[in-house]
Amino acid sequence: MKNNSIPSFVTIIFFFLLGWLLLIWTPYLQFGSQKLHEDQESGDLVPRPLSGLAIRGSKIYEENGCATCHTQQARNSNEDKVQGYSKRASVARDFFYQPATFAGMNRFGPDLTNVGSRKKSAEWHHQHLFAPQTLSPGSIMPSYQFLYEKRKIVGQHSGEALKLPSSVLIEEGYEVIPSEQAKALVAYLLSLDQSYSLPESPLIEE
Ligand code: HEC
Repeated sequence: MKNNSIPSFVTIIFFFLLGWLLLIWTPYLQFGSQKLHEDQESGDLVPRPLSGLAIRGSKIYEENGCATCHTQQARNSNEDKVQGYSKRASVARDFFYQPATFAGMNRFGPDLTNVGSRKKSAEWHHQHLFAPQTLSPGSIMPSYQFLYEKRKIVGQHSGEALKLPSSVLIEEGYEVIPSEQAKALVAYLLSLDQSYSLPESPLIEE
C-alpha cells in the first residue's frame, strides 16, 4: 500500500501558510506602517492618544454591548452626511490608538465615531446615559442607571450630582452620582473625535 502521509502533511502546511499570508501578513503590509500625522491647524499629531480613563471607558463600552446598536465607522455616504455623523470617512489610521475597534454592524442609534466633537458636554452624556428619553424623547436606547449611585444628601449637594429634570423621579433628599465606570465611559465617548484632516481622508468642507 502507498504511504500518503508525506504529501498530505505538505498540503496541510501549504494551506496553513496560505491562510497566514492572507489573514496576517497581507493586512500587516497594508496597515503595519501607519504613522501619526501632523495636523496643519493645531500642529498636534493626530490621532490623539487616549487618556487612561478613556481606555478604561472603552472596556465599559464593550461590556455593556453598546456596539450592538452603534457603529464607529463613518462612511462617505449620503446618510452619514445628512445625519452629520462625520465630515469625512473613517480610515485605518483613525484607529491607531484605539485599544479595540468597535466598528459595529447595526445602526439602531447614530454612528459614534465622532460623537466627542458633536456632544462635548460630560453633563449631557451622563444625563443621556441615565435617562436617554429626557434628552431624546421616544429614544429606544436603554437607560444605564446601574452605572450611577443614588446617594442620600448629607449637608451640601455634591458638585458631581446629575442635574436631572423633574420628570425623572428621585426620592426626596437623594442625589444621583456617576460611578467610576460612568466617568470612564463618558471620558471614552468624549475622546471619540475624528474632526481632523488626514491626507487619505480630508475633511469635506461645506
Ligand atoms: C438598543 C440600542 C442601543 C443600545 C444598546 C445603546 N444605544 Fe446609544 N443610542 C441608541 C439610539 C436609538 C440613539 C438615538 C436616540 C438618543 O439620542 O437617545 C442613541 C444615542 C446615543 C448617543 C447620542 C449620539 C448623538 O449623536 O446624539 C450616545 C452618546 C450613545 N447613544 C451612547 C451609547 C452608549 C455609551 C451605549 C452603551 C452603554 C449605548 N449608547 C447603547 C440606541 C442604543
